[in-house]
Amino acid sequence: ISLCFILICLFIHCVCRYPLGMSSGQIQDEDISASSQWSESTAARYGRLDCEEGDGAWCPEITVEPDSLKEFLQIDLRSLHFITLVGTQGRHAGGIGNEFAQMYKIKYSRDGRRWISWRNRQGKQVIEGNRNAYDIVLKDLEPPIIARFVRFMPVTDHSMNVCMRVELYGCEWLDGLVSYNAPAGEQMSFLLTFFLFLFPSIYHHMTEGLGQLTDGVCGLDDFTLSHVYNVWPGYDYVGWNNESFPSGYVEIMFEFDRTRNFTTMKVHCNNMFSRHVKAFRQVVCYFHSESDWEATPLTFSPVVDEKNPSARFVTVNLANHMASAIKCQFYFADAWMMFSEITFQSVQCLHNLDCPSPEEDPTHKVDDSNTRILIGCLVAIIFILVAIIVIILWRQVWQKMLEKASRRMLDDELTASLSIQSETFGYNHNQLSTNSEQESNSTYERIFPLGPDYQEPSRLICKLPEFAQSSEEPASTSTAASKSTTTTTVVQDGVPHYAEADIVNLQGVTGSNTYAIPAVTMDLLSGKDVAVEEFPRKLLTFKEKLGEGQFGEVHLCEAEGMQEFMNKEFLFDIPEDQPVLVAVKMLRSDANKNARNDFLKEIKIMSRLKDPNIIRLLAVCIYSDPLCMITEYMENGDLNQFLSRHEPEGQLALLSNAPTVSFNNLCYMATQIASGMKYLSSLNFVHRDLATRNCLVGKNYTIKIADFGMSRNLYSGDYYRIQGRAVLPIRWMSWESILLGKFTTASDVWAFGVTLWEILNFCKEQPYSQLTDEQVIENTGEFFRDQKRQIYLPQPVLCPDSLYKIMLSCWRRNTKERPSFQEIHKALLEIQP
Ligand code: ADE
Repeated sequence: ISLCFILICLFIHCVCRYPLGMSSGQIQDEDISASSQWSESTAARYGRLDCEEGDGAWCPEITVEPDSLKEFLQIDLRSLHFITLVGTQGRHAGGIGNEFAQMYKIKYSRDGRRWISWRNRQGKQVIEGNRNAYDIVLKDLEPPIIARFVRFMPVTDHSMNVCMRVELYGCEWLDGLVSYNAPAGEQMSFLLTFFLFLFPSIYHHMTEGLGQLTDGVCGLDDFTLSHVYNVWPGYDYVGWNNESFPSGYVEIMFEFDRTRNFTTMKVHCNNMFSRHVKAFRQVVCYFHSESDWEATPLTFSPVVDEKNPSARFVTVNLANHMASAIKCQFYFADAWMMFSEITFQSVQCLHNLDCPSPEEDPTHKVDDSNTRILIGCLVAIIFILVAIIVIILWRQVWQKMLEKASRRMLDDELTASLSIQSETFGYNHNQLSTNSEQESNSTYERIFPLGPDYQEPSRLICKLPEFAQSSEEPASTSTAASKSTTTTTVVQDGVPHYAEADIVNLQGVTGSNTYAIPAVTMDLLSGKDVAVEEFPRKLLTFKEKLGEGQFGEVHLCEAEGMQEFMNKEFLFDIPEDQPVLVAVKMLRSDANKNARNDFLKEIKIMSRLKDPNIIRLLAVCIYSDPLCMITEYMENGDLNQFLSRHEPEGQLALLSNAPTVSFNNLCYMATQIASGMKYLSSLNFVHRDLATRNCLVGKNYTIKIADFGMSRNLYSGDYYRIQGRAVLPIRWMSWESILLGKFTTASDVWAFGVTLWEILNFCKEQPYSQLTDEQVIENTGEFFRDQKRQIYLPQPVLCPDSLYKIMLSCWRRNTKERPSFQEIHKALLEIQP
């Protein structure tokens, strides 16, 4: 019987697991709100599980700090709901996003005023969240909650950007019970084989309105046995001792959401008479409707059962009394009375299991009528279990078959389309097969079913010439030679940089492709989103042009009074009343709307990055055109040019009189880049274009990471143009970024390996300089297949084995096997003499 009771309760939990409408849209946008939002396109209404609208999730305005608990996503369910399960997901946005909540807390409220923090049965509030931006993680709420309002509050252990999509699962709570008030339970102690056995009843739940008596979990027949949830014996019961109640009864007051027509009340009681616990002998209920208590109460006396020690539901017929509050006095039948659940049935109990059937005995009785329901439950549970087992087995077999088939096809086709045949590997353009170009569209499609690593294929591969049935240039006419010329063409006006195209639309005009953040369509001009101040443009004096790009220029300027805008740490070597040298990145006033948006986006991101190895945004001029961002000036320009001008220490340098950089200083610079990247990755930012050209050099070999779309003209050879539309830094990109459009911290690690290689070569050679762009992409296919045919960048002459080992680890095929920036940074510190 007790198993059956548990099954009933479990059944409620099992069936009451309907998605409540975040994904389906049943919950209206206006019922989803948040503490803040990063931008209009990441507002609360985009926090719907499995939906990709807007920028793909709700993201709070600022980085979530540990212990701050300021940010939340709130859902108003409009009525009380029994919530048994929650689901969360991060922001993936087709591979662009990489923000998710690793942990979160839940708060709930029935009236929107009093908020209660959800805790599990062990008292823990924090729920484990997501580990990546795309998988949905479901968590059972044990105990479940009854609430109208629910808040998801991201929790972090370090300051990081977080975005969330969520769903609530459960069903409407038709009891209408809003709160109950009962005397606190008491402790029972008795000698059990020489141990003093304590049975703590629940105190705190009583004050929380709804709690132990309405958590949908029924207690066991023998309350001394440990409960399934690993909590103390008797956890599910609230118990009272007769001696503490001179009146001989315990009075519990129940308040409901509105006036209801009550048919029954069911009280789940323990009846372990061997321990002096019995169900109540009588109950007297008073009804409060309109403004007063009804004069005549309802009295009911169940048969006191001294034969069967099972816990049971005692059903009390409430005879269709109308009430918004009910006060019941339960009379003791023995020294103890213990309840674990109380439920009410009113006329509106639509899918409530406990609805009385019309033929049910109207008098008061120990409830046997659940038998039919129980049988139904058991059959349903067995059916569900069998279905689950069949589905699991079917999925496993199917997945295996698919995997095998995919691998076979993939290998065949990639061999045909991606790999450079052994003779083609002589770097001869003309030998690249045109057949493979025509066949490889389908190849990419087949990468998809391989597993979670391949879940988010971008359209990138389809855009690559040899994979595309290009509309601009039919595959049959696109010869390798013509392709190789396109790659070296200087980017022309109107041709967006790589991510500006629809492949990965994060590209900033002036290099704002740097970080994977929610795209912004915000009104930055309001100033609200920017964490830096507006600088009076007239106080800037132009000195010289530092760089030029498609949509603007970078100027070296003197800024008067900039000291006020600078952090103390920058000020130590700057005289107070002299102009400060700054770099001013300026958007051309005729730049298109996308470029403008990207420029503002870059400002927003940069304004929040504060690290010694990340270029610092000092101020902006965005109140009028041309839009400007003012950054610190790094007197030695970018690292690529800097190293190209220098030579390694040694005979050769002595002879040529060229300036030198010592090995120690090379290591020092690499370590700083690793440190800056460690910071970015800790914020979950993905740079996407790490290379020496995007690192700036200051005094004494200090390095700061930046990104300069401006310098694309200078370095156009480093970027690969796709169908004349987008440019990609393919020589720095991981295989998964090229083939699957996946940009993650692990792909930044890959790019770091290439950057390290550049540094050790004094930037005298482009990575894979002997390969054409097409061959680089084909080599990517070899990295994917991992059949030892991939070509690695060679060990630079100056490079000790320990450093080369780091590079090779960055280029591991499996993203999880690549080191983190933290590990790289540590390893470099150890190498640095
Ligand atoms: N070129 C572009 N930005 C620069 C900066 N901040 N310092 C020096 N050179 C630059």
